[in-house]
Amino acid sequence: MKILLTGGAGFIGSHTAVELVNNGYSPIILDDFRNSNALIIKNIEKIIGKKVGFYSVDIGNKIKLREIIKKENPIGIIHFAADKSVNESVLNPLKYYKNNISNLVSLLELVSEFNINSFVFSSSCTVYGNPIKIPVKETNETQPAFSPYGYTKKVGERILTDFYATREKSSLTLLRYFNPIGAHPSGLIGELPIGVPSNLLPFITQTAIGKRKKLTIYGNDYETPDGTCIRDYIHVVDLANAHVLSLKFSLEKKNYIKTYNVGMGKGSSVLEVINSFENVNKVAINYDFGARRIGDIPKIFADIDLIKDEMNWFPKFNLENSVEHAWNWEKKLMDFKYIS
Ligand code: WQD
Repeated sequence: MKILLTGGAGFIGSHTAVELVNNGYSPIILDDFRNSNALIIKNIEKIIGKKVGFYSVDIGNKIKLREIIKKENPIGIIHFAADKSVNESVLNPLKYYKNNISNLVSLLELVSEFNINSFVFSSSCTVYGNPIKIPVKETNETQPAFSPYGYTKKVGERILTDFYATREKSSLTLLRYFNPIGAHPSGLIGELPIGVPSNLLPFITQTAIGKRKKLTIYGNDYETPDGTCIRDYIHVVDLANAHVLSLKFSLEKKNYIKTYNVGMGKGSSVLEVINSFENVNKVAINYDFGARRIGDIPKIFADIDLIKDEMNWFPKFNLENSVEHAWNWEKKLMDFKYIS
């Protein structure tokens, strides 16, 4: 059973490709490597021990996409391909509306043309904005987004729900990720930030390995126990398995539109992540405290009862596993040759 993974060479996509193979599916990765590298495809194949379906393509190229779908005849799509930097989206909103919205619409026109029934969408906790009630449930009303990136996820969810409301025999699953971290236990795939990482854990691992001189903690005057922001950090392999389960469920159902939070169901502060990294990996991190980062919210973590009850999904990895696997990956990255 072939499953199309747009952006499948990315951080979440690559780990999902591996878990799909582990569960008997055949992923077909579409990626233009704007946020990845062909090294990831090579290493996915090392992990699964065979070739993986792959096309180097911009998902905005509808003609090429139509040829691929016609040839591969997938039974489902997991749509990861999107730009995801909050800061960059503020500086370059049109790039985000083009890639994250208009390319989604053209993909859905092909879904309709080829009657592909099952669609899983990579959404984000960012749709909750600065939540009033924590932990956040899927039924929490979403707040105004803080950035064009956040709007593309909110609008993306709306486009999808409106489109799937017209398709009786199809199914749509929206997965609202919290903070994906860690790497595959093999150390062969992980997060591959292009340039200076904006996310916390890759910045920590790059500081630990000496690529960055110092980590700045953006604010320690928040109303939290240690003054630093609290997030819900979920291991990327657990997140990948939530996609496999969502796909399996959606292939069995018709006329199905569901939204699930995917997180640990608990919060960790920036300082707790740093301390966990130092304790688990026996490496000291050079950090100081700086000003708050615009757009950051003080605290958010997920209520994951729905995905637990309905899919029997549970996070299997904890924060210590995530910081260990992330460090293992950073160290292996030193030896890997990027493929240009
Ligand atoms: C986490 C905490 C920072 C870097 C983003 C997206 C969200 C989702 C996950 C895709 C914050 C602090 C960070 C640093 C720091 N992505 N930090 N120094 O902002 O919670 O969420 O990634 O769906 O949509 O918004 O993640 O890792 O950037 O920050 O102090 O050098 O770490 O202030 O409190 P964030 P993050």
